[in-house]
Amino acid sequence: MKVNDQAWRSIWREGAILHVVDQTVLPHRFVSRTLHNVADVADAIQNMVVRGAPLIGVTGAYGVALAARHDASDATLNAAAATLIATRPTAINLRWAVEQTLAQLLALDVSLRASAAFALADALAEADVDTNAAIGRHGAALLRQRWENLGRPARLNVLTHCNAGWLGCVDWGTALAALYQAHDSGVPVHVWIDETRPRNQGASLTTWELAAHGVPATLIVDNAGGLLMQQGQVDACIVGADRITARGDVCNKVGTYLKALAAQAHQVPFYVAAPVSTIDWQAWDGPREIEIEVRAASEVTHITGRTTEGRVVQVQLAPPGTAAHNPAFDVTPATLVSAIVTEQGAVAATAAGLQPLRPAHQATA
Ligand code: MRU
Repeated sequence: MKVNDQAWRSIWREGAILHVVDQTVLPHRFVSRTLHNVADVADAIQNMVVRGAPLIGVTGAYGVALAARHDASDATLNAAAATLIATRPTAINLRWAVEQTLAQLLALDVSLRASAAFALADALAEADVDTNAAIGRHGAALLRQRWENLGRPARLNVLTHCNAGWLGCVDWGTALAALYQAHDSGVPVHVWIDETRPRNQGASLTTWELAAHGVPATLIVDNAGGLLMQQGQVDACIVGADRITARGDVCNKVGTYLKALAAQAHQVPFYVAAPVSTIDWQAWDGPREIEIEVRAASEVTHITGRTTEGRVVQVQLAPPGTAAHNPAFDVTPATLVSAIVTEQGAVAATAAGLQPLRPAHQATA
């Protein structure tokens, strides 16, 4: 996507050096970081220099590739994959991309692995761009349909949570791809952006992305969505996903579930946009089966901001010693989801709706 008239992706490669947009300092600074080895990649994923399910998947694939260029033995590649998968447990895309890259490399003779490694990760990155462009087309069609059904109001108010934009993917985004394409095609979209405590991906990243693209948007605190729905000020919700079960339960950034409950109470459609690779065909009952990442208590007791001199700093909110619990994701039951928008089209959040998307090699759950 364009930033200051220049096209950017969230991750790119120059020879053997991997570059990523550093998401820990946005929106205050737009800078990149270089990653040179598996340890750098694992650290970038764990500390959320890169984040968002599709992007951590692609970054993980590059991590395996970097390992292969250093030492392409089975032992090294298996160890690298295990290290990378362990960095963040919830988003299935990470495991999917790392395991796929690992399997493709292990199938090659050791002497061929180093030269093949980057091409495999590059292919995943390119596929992610095409996938998200397609999600955007299908999602924009849904939003246009909603706008038409409402009688073409002067603005279509859409609420989103966290950041499901190009920063969380290689390009375009998932939920935000739908908003970008709806906006570009003339639907008068206005976005309510949940700030998304504790890390504030909505306040820091989604605000910045939508402004760069010229999509009208308003930042709200996480607790405002219910009131806005009650007041008839939300026409639809659209969010991304970190894992979707075979029956359509959706795991996404913590707080998504509460918005889906409010949306159902107020008959507001609740759309989820995600690639087919986000579906975990082995999982059925999301609340029971999906591991929810629990992150540091300091993310709750502190908040990141910028001083007037431009330094990015952490400020303490709670008294020293305050106990804090920080689950990073929650699970929205399929019954609260109006549709799941994938690169293959929008489907019902049911086992029957998802079944046609199931790749042939995936066994029945
Ligand atoms: O903890 P994060 O910032 O990696 O969580 C990201 C989300 O929850 C996104 O909504 C999801 O990954 C979709 S990204 C296109």
